[in-house]
Amino acid sequence: MRVLRSMELLDLPAGSPRLASVEFQQFLRECFPLLRNADGSWKCSRATRLKELDERLVAVLQSRGLKPSLFMDVGMGNGTSTVDTIRRLSQAGLPVQTIATDRNLEGYVVPLNRHLDLLVEDNGHILMIEGRGWTLSPVCNGWDYLTGKFLFKRGLAAWARQRIARLGLPLPPTPGGPNSAAGPIAGPFLLVTPELKNRSDVVIRQEDILEPLPADLIGVADVVRIANVLRRDRFSPAQLSQIAHNLRQRCREGAVVLVGRHLGREGEDHKRGYTFFEALGGGGFQVLERVGGGSEVEECFTGL
Ligand SMILES: C[S@@+](CC[C@H](N)C(=O)[O-])C[C@H]1O[C@@H](n2cnc3c(N)ncnc32)[C@H](O)[C@@H]1O
Repeated sequence: MRVLRSMELLDLPAGSPRLASVEFQQFLRECFPLLRNADGSWKCSRATRLKELDERLVAVLQSRGLKPSLFMDVGMGNGTSTVDTIRRLSQAGLPVQTIATDRNLEGYVVPLNRHLDLLVEDNGHILMIEGRGWTLSPVCNGWDYLTGKFLFKRGLAAWARQRIARLGLPLPPTPGGPNSAAGPIAGPFLLVTPELKNRSDVVIRQEDILEPLPADLIGVADVVRIANVLRRDRFSPAQLSQIAHNLRQRCREGAVVLVGRHLGREGEDHKRGYTFFEALGGGGFQVLERVGGGSEVEECFTGL
């Protein structure tokens, strides 16, 4: 399968039977796990990763007698775990409207020649390189360094970056401007699972959590989740406090907020660190309960 030539699969309607096809499942497996943002964060959200947290969320809501109207999933990645949570809430008799946001949502397919295609953000950041029969992420991991493959990756990525820069950034080139020598640039593609798109109960929005909160998002959320986004090695203490303030601003009084991340591999219970908070009336948060050791950024929220 040429993954980047199959990107229209992302535009399948939410109820399409093709979403269950082998072709689509193969596309998902080969596309999303490779995609990495410029800051090193992964675009992928693994299906069922947040399953137990969904159960805890339902229990927290039920024990408090809350019937949420609006759920916000901040930093949703490709939206797979968002779909799971919406489904679980609905099964529990808690149907919600959802606003799912992320900083990077779009990608363009740039054909470099007959053999090579790139998936690129509008700022030129390369998410994936695809040749005939192979795909790779330009980001090098430990295995690449061990096997020497990093030299090939780095060389190829540097060459590809030069080619993209010649097209003119941000992509796409202005009408009448330069286009890829090998063919038209395709996109933008919304890099989100089709199961979340084109639904009347879901709004997908681009949003940087470090930017001021848009006015229409102030004080509207009953449940907010920010999972696998906040880390002490990616955000400074000042940024984490700013983010905690931003998240509090979007909450109604009494809203439930889930913050945390998986620190280890799938299934390693002790390596999860999540905290459920309640948004307090006068501003700020209080801890409701912890999963694993609690969130590593908990005090940024309680210290507001
Ligand atoms: C690993 S994914 C998490 C996906 C999902 N929440 C989950 O746990 O399955 C991390 C996401 O955080 C997003 N992100 C990182 N910095 C962000 C920021 N400043 N504002 C909004 N989203 C951000 C990235 O774009 C990426 O999609």
